[in-house]
Order: sequence, then C-alpha cells, then structure tokens
Amino acid sequence: MAKLDTTYLGLNLKSPLIVSSSGLNSSVERIQKYQDFGAGAVVLKSLFEEQILHEVSHLEQYSDYTEASDYLKHYVSSNNVQEYINMIKAAKSAVNIPVIASINCVSDSQWLTFASRIQEAGADALEVNIFYLPLDPHRQAGEYEKVYASIAEKLHKVISIPVSYKLGAHFTNPLNIIEQLRYRGAKGVVLFNRFFEPDLDIHSMKVVPATIFSNPSDIRYTLRWVGIASHLIPEIDISASTGVHDGEALIKMILAGASSVQVCSAIYRNGPQHIQSMLLTLTEWMGQKGFKSVADFKGKLNLGAIPDPTHYERSQFMKYFSNYE
Ligand SMILES: Cc1cc2nc3c(=O)[nH]c(=O)nc-3n(C[C@H](O)[C@H](O)[C@H](O)COP(=O)(O)O)c2cc1C
Repeated sequence: MAKLDTTYLGLNLKSPLIVSSSGLNSSVERIQKYQDFGAGAVVLKSLFEEQILHEVSHLEQYSDYTEASDYLKHYVSSNNVQEYINMIKAAKSAVNIPVIASINCVSDSQWLTFASRIQEAGADALEVNIFYLPLDPHRQAGEYEKVYASIAEKLHKVISIPVSYKLGAHFTNPLNIIEQLRYRGAKGVVLFNRFFEPDLDIHSMKVVPATIFSNPSDIRYTLRWVGIASHLIPEIDISASTGVHDGEALIKMILAGASSVQVCSAIYRNGPQHIQSMLLTLTEWMGQKGFKSVADFKGKLNLGAIPDPTHYERSQFMKYFSNYE
C-alpha cells in the first residue's frame, strides 16, 4: 500500500496536499473536513498588513479627536490580530495536521511584532506572502527586491518556527531571490502565488475584477520553476502552487521536485471531497508505478534527473516549433 506521508518545512504531513491560504480556511469546521478528506496541512488566510492599515485610515475619518483616533487605531489593529490569534488556537485544538499561519506584507516594519504572537498562539509554521506592485518608474528592480531580504533578515530574529515565503511569479531571477531567502533562514518557498488581477468590461466601459480562480493550464509556469529550483537549490523545500486542479497535476509537481502541493481554486470549485479524489489518483498511480512512498518519486523528473535539460530550459519557440503554421 502506497504511503502518502511526507515532510515539508521539517513538519510531518500525512499527505503532500496542502489547502492554500484563502477563505477556504476561515472556519474550523471546514479545516476539520479537509483533515478528514486527507489534507496534509492548511495555510490560514493571510493576515493583511494592508487590510489593517486600511481599516485604521477609514475609521480616522469619523474621529475629530486625536486621543479617540489613537484608541480606534489600536482597537482595530489589535482586534484584527486577536481574531487571527484566536483562529490559530481554535484550529490547533480542533485538528492534528499542521496549521500554517500566513501574513501578507509589503514592508519590513509594522507587522514583525505580529509574527511573535502567531508563534506564541501555536502556529506550526508561518508563510510570508510579500507583494507590492512596482509603480515607480525611477526605482530599480533590485531596490524592490531588497525588501524581501530585509524582511527575512528581521523575521528570523523574532521567531523560531519554520518560515516559507510565498513568491509572485515575476522576478527576473527567481533563483536568486530563493537563494537570498534561504541564506537568511527560510525553510521553504511557495512557487507561485496568483494575484487578484483587473479586467476591462468593454460594454460597461469599466475596470472589473478578473476571475479569481486559476485554470489547469496555469500549472506550467510553476512546473518549470519547481523542476529547476528543486535541482539547483535542493536545500530548500518547495510547495507548488497555482493551477493544481487534479491528482495528475499534483503528481507532476512532486515529480518536478515539490515537497508539498497547494490547492485552492479546485477546492473552491469542487468542494472539500475533491481532496480525497486527488489523493486517490495519487495512490492509484503510485500503485501502478510501484512507488511505495512520496520520497520514491519526488524530483524524479526535475532538471538534474532528466537526460535532456533543454526541456526545462527551452523558452523560445523559434527553431523547435517553426513547423507550426
Ligand atoms: C478567493 C481567494 C482568496 C485568496 N486569499 C489568499 C490569501 O489570503 N493569502 C494568500 O497568500 N493567497 C491567497 N489566495 C491565493 C491562493 O492561496 C493560491 O496561491 C492561488 O489561488 C493559486 O492557487 P490555485 O491555482 O490552486 O487557486 C487566494 C485565492 C483565492 C481564489
């Protein structure tokens, strides 16, 4: 019988499938269901630095008194944090799979104090989701990237639970960012986050939110970098995210070298029982191939394991596909 247990960030997971950070994990009852259907871990919805700041500035409009305004600021930020802390504690006492907290941040300052409270509340690990849109044409890419290193440098002085960094897909050199984070104490990276994006409605002539869910074909960009990074930076754990909608995609990510695989859109679309069906596909496939454990096939098709690395490295269509007309 195939064994699905694996390790990620030094944590023991009973399966490699993690329910991604999102509203899916906002209720303890749902987290219990994910555990029952075989999820190896959950990542709680992010505590957003931006959300707290937004609420504070919104409340300020209703207060003419500095003292009252200070009180409201404190009340709102501590309640947000307190709710989050309560959620960690509630989830930890309800399930025995790892509960990973998540913070979305854009700077290396205010939120750092939250991190120690998250650790004290019992989170098994912290996923740090850093993203800001570079809107200053005069600021060089390297300056933006320095924030990642600076966050990691400060964070690892404050907490000792394992930390992973959930990265966006658009770095000039993702490997260098991963390496910089690893050097500063990261145990893992999540490749890649998928962000909220705008669309245009040509009838109403308005900017509208694009669909928030991914498609199965979105797996490919992630697959390439999991395959490359797992070979070139083997010391760090990779959790694959974006476009994993079925058991086959989950298998592909592990073959490419992922230690765990995160699923979000597919659970929103198909419900929590989809976890079980994805894991069934995995178990059956392992049986057919004769793999007894996840470790038996992890990375078996990454950059270093295949005879022809150009499959991962090739990026231009020219030459190879010139017969397509
Ligand atoms: C409704 C929704 C809410 C999300 N909220 C968060 C969040 O709070 N923090 C975060 O890091 N990612 C968040 N994500 C991103 C997901 O965790 C995931 O990385 C992304 O959807 C790609 O995975 P998928 O293709 O399996 O959907 C959210 C995604 C969706 C669809």
